[in-house]
Amino acid sequence: MKFSVSFAILAGLVSRIVAAPVNNAPFLVTINDTEHVIGNSIWNITIGQTYGTKLYYKGKDIVGNAVGHYVSYNGAASNLNWTSVSVFERTETYLDVSFSANEGDFHWVIYPNQAGAYQYFVNRALPILGEFRSLFRLDNTTFFNGKTDIKEGPLPTLTQIANSTKVQDETWQQADGTYITKYDWSAFIRDQKYYGVYGPRYGSWYIYPGKDEYNGDQLKQELLVHRESATGDVVQLNMLHGTHFMASSSDAFEVGKTWGPWLWYLNDGSFEDVSKKSDNEENKWPYSWFQSSTNYHSRGSVSGTLKLSDGRPASGAAVFLGDNHPNETTLDMGRYNYFTAYADSHGSFTFTNVRSGAYALQAWANGGSIGDISTTFLQNDVTVTKGKQTALRSLIWKTQSRKQIWQIGIMDRKSLGFLYGGAPHQHALVAKCPANLTYTIGSSVESDWCFGQSALGSWDVSFSIPQLKSNSSAVLSVSLAGYSSGVSDSILMNGVVVGNLTSANIPTDPCLYRSGTTAGEWHYFEFGVPAATLKEGLNKLSFQCTRSTLWHGFMWDSVILEWA
Ligand SMILES: *[C@@H]1O[C@H](CO)[C@@H](O)[C@H](O)[C@H]1NC(C)=O
Ligand SMILES: *[C@@H]1O[C@H](CO)[C@@H](O)[C@H](O)[C@H]1NC(C)=O
Ligand SMILES: *[C@@H]1O[C@H](CO)[C@@H](O)[C@H](O)[C@H]1NC(C)=O
Ligand SMILES: *[C@@H]1O[C@H](CO)[C@@H](O)[C@H](O)[C@H]1NC(C)=O
Ligand SMILES: *[C@@H]1O[C@H](CO)[C@@H](O)[C@H](O)[C@H]1NC(C)=O
Ligand SMILES: *[C@@H]1O[C@H](CO)[C@@H](O)[C@H](O)[C@H]1NC(C)=O
Ligand SMILES: *[C@@H]1O[C@H](CO)[C@@H](O)[C@H](O)[C@H]1NC(C)=O
Ligand SMILES: *[C@@H]1O[C@H](CO)[C@@H](O)[C@H](O)[C@H]1NC(C)=O
Ligand SMILES: *[C@@H]1O[C@H](CO)[C@@H](O)[C@H](O)[C@H]1NC(C)=O
Repeated sequence: MKFSVSFAILAGLVSRIVAAPVNNAPFLVTINDTEHVIGNSIWNITIGQTYGTKLYYKGKDIVGNAVGHYVSYNGAASNLNWTSVSVFERTETYLDVSFSANEGDFHWVIYPNQAGAYQYFVNRALPILGEFRSLFRLDNTTFFNGKTDIKEGPLPTLTQIANSTKVQDETWQQADGTYITKYDWSAFIRDQKYYGVYGPRYGSWYIYPGKDEYNGDQLKQELLVHRESATGDVVQLNMLHGTHFMASSSDAFEVGKTWGPWLWYLNDGSFEDVSKKSDNEENKWPYSWFQSSTNYHSRGSVSGTLKLSDGRPASGAAVFLGDNHPNETTLDMGRYNYFTAYADSHGSFTFTNVRSGAYALQAWANGGSIGDISTTFLQNDVTVTKGKQTALRSLIWKTQSRKQIWQIGIMDRKSLGFLYGGAPHQHALVAKCPANLTYTIGSSVESDWCFGQSALGSWDVSFSIPQLKSNSSAVLSVSLAGYSSGVSDSILMNGVVVGNLTSANIPTDPCLYRSGTTAGEWHYFEFGVPAATLKEGLNKLSFQCTRSTLWHGFMWDSVILEWA
């Protein structure tokens, strides 16, 4: 059926009378300077100076008493205020309404038959910031549940929270000893096909097929949905730039930097439906209808094959296109656009739809057959040109090239394999890890090592060296999947201090105390182990925890001992 379009755009009305939209046509109705209604015949929302409320869908106001839709940075003190509202673009197929704040323009792109709208934000004057987001705070008698790629089900209720004891930031202990925390609703943001909140007959979702504008790398985590503990609102977060699991991520943005478009989508709560919708959006991305950002369609691809200097293919490596000549870690980057992929078993990788520009290609081991590699690969000045395929040849990744004595875990920047490593989010899990532990090389298994160390005590590695070559020193590599400060270790080889992991010397991220179980920020250290500290026969390496802070500490990735 061909749709005949006519828009009802009634600007400058002084009365509260609103005209019924023609057919399914998208509309902007101006009530007065600070109140506008946008939508189509399926839904509409009334947007005031800051908040979008009265969100009608299927005959119901699904914001109700909740706060509604808004855009904010660095916490609630900085909610954007709309100073003007205009039709940015009207085409045969959609209406693009722009809400302007001093900091930039938030757009709603409304199609006649779409339940929901595309949204995007164009920067004008955002300050240097860590957190920037749009969100819906929705009616809690319509929406009861949250869904991410790893968790679904009821959000904790305000009654449960009120019945519990607050133990830290947005975390409560219930009478039975278990915890409630909003951080259980976090996940790796680039792994989301869709996520949102739902209840009987209603679902509200974010589908963000182009994730280039997000800060960070493959391991960027964010809080995605939660129960607002002060009001009981059901919250659906769109963390455009976030810091919830990071040591630092403060960025300045170019004028014109655009986040999105992503799709905010309404349905009856069906996962099957939103999943199908998300597949469709992925197939349509980059969106051909989106023409207002000059560089959005200027994209090319990058492919190559990575080989380790020892001849092995860089099988399964994590590959990343980010800041050229970087001065920040891949997770901390956030000014520009970022592209993530994984190499196949031959070390070959392809990035498609990469924005034109100059990048550094980085790669690191993601376990598997190269889980012993502690070096990372970096190649600057990878140029991407519109419509072209950049083929990178003979990429040689220099390994640490040392003979391994033993390794615990695998290099993948994650705690996977250890006890509780990668477990479903749960507050205080690290408190279940032992204070003292002995891991015997040759007989212990990976899961005998716990994912995190937090308590005063000693974690010992017992190993034997059958024959000591004269004066052969070793290198101890410690790879942390994350670290929450306030916990320090001394590292001893047979009772002799060879190094330390000391609070204040390591950037701190909230992973361990915000119910992270897989990763926070990655840290890598090498310690020289003098020949004189080693002996023939049985040896003991100790991670002695000398300072402890409840629920904080080290989240392990891997520990490796190699001959120097
Ligand atoms: C705009 O209209 C709303 C709702 O009718 C009213 O509450 C608000 O005071 C009005 N604002 C101005 C600036 O007139
Ligand atoms: C918004 O939707 C409600 C409920 O369907 C309807 O009563 C109202 O007229 C709509 N507003 C506009 C401007 O169309
Ligand atoms: C928006 O206005 C409110 C109240 O007028 C103010 O408190 C808030 O700081 C403003 N937001 C920004 C980002 O300036
Ligand atoms: C919903 O919010 C109200 C406050 O508006 C609160 O009293 C109620 O407990 C909340 N419901 C749930 C399930 O948390
Ligand atoms: C509140 O806590 C008590 C125990 O202190 C428990 O028996 C009760 O079920 C709890 N109520 C709710 C709503 O969680
Ligand atoms: C990296 O360089 C950019 C300028 O190119 C600067 O704005 C940023 O602060 C630097 N980051 C660090 C961690 O030094
Ligand atoms: C850990 O070992 C030390 C030294 O043997 C001991 O003093 C301490 O009580 C142990 N801690 C626990 C929790 O068992
Ligand atoms: C042992 O090796 C270290 C470091 O390679 C070197 O400085 C030292 O002189 C050597 N000692 C002997 C006795 O060879
Ligand atoms: C930890 O090691 C560093 C580097 O060797 C050293 O400078 C520092 O003094 C040590 N700190 C403690 C508390 O031992």
